[in-house]
Amino acid sequence: METTQPPRGRTVPAANPPLRGVAGTAGEPPRGAVPALSEAEKKSARRRVVWTAVVGFLSASFLMFLRFFFPRTLFEPSTLFRIGFPSDFGLGVDERFKQSHRIWVVRQTDKLFVVYAKCTHLGCTPNWIETENKFKCPCHGSGYDVEGKNFEGPAPRPMDRAHVELDPEGQIVVDTSRLYQCPPGAICQFDADPNSYLIIS
Ligand code: FES
Repeated sequence: METTQPPRGRTVPAANPPLRGVAGTAGEPPRGAVPALSEAEKKSARRRVVWTAVVGFLSASFLMFLRFFFPRTLFEPSTLFRIGFPSDFGLGVDERFKQSHRIWVVRQTDKLFVVYAKCTHLGCTPNWIETENKFKCPCHGSGYDVEGKNFEGPAPRPMDRAHVELDPEGQIVVDTSRLYQCPPGAICQFDADPNSYLIIS
């Protein structure tokens, strides 16, 4: 039987030529493999890591140094302030200054006084409940009447009152750094001290 021979001197291409990058192909990294780093590249990567750490450390130190120039300061509202004229307040409890200065202004027919909004049990800020005509502490349930006198719950004494006086123009000046108290079982300072209320004529 006669067989066909390729002509002499010519090479026959392989039936399945090797693909570039296929595993096992000599000289080509396998597909998906991470090429190994050269020594120089490894050195450079190490240098980058060290420098990143050094720069991070120096930045953190510098920020901490800067903090010394900006101390944490608590800006509290002034304890001495004006709240307007007596005629600006209607009968009852006025809550306008509770958020800003932690006080209620209480106007009665013949006098006006300022209650410091701090529960005498553990210092929470009570709420004025108009419908029940009382102050109620949300923490442990102490109740105070419209004059700030305790009548229910664990509060041991009435809420304090702040010093009040009129300035030369007739405006009310409140000083919450001067509080009048009513110690348990003793005479209330705010019943005795004329600067704990204003007479309204
Ligand atoms: S703090 Fe007001 S009842 Fe306890």
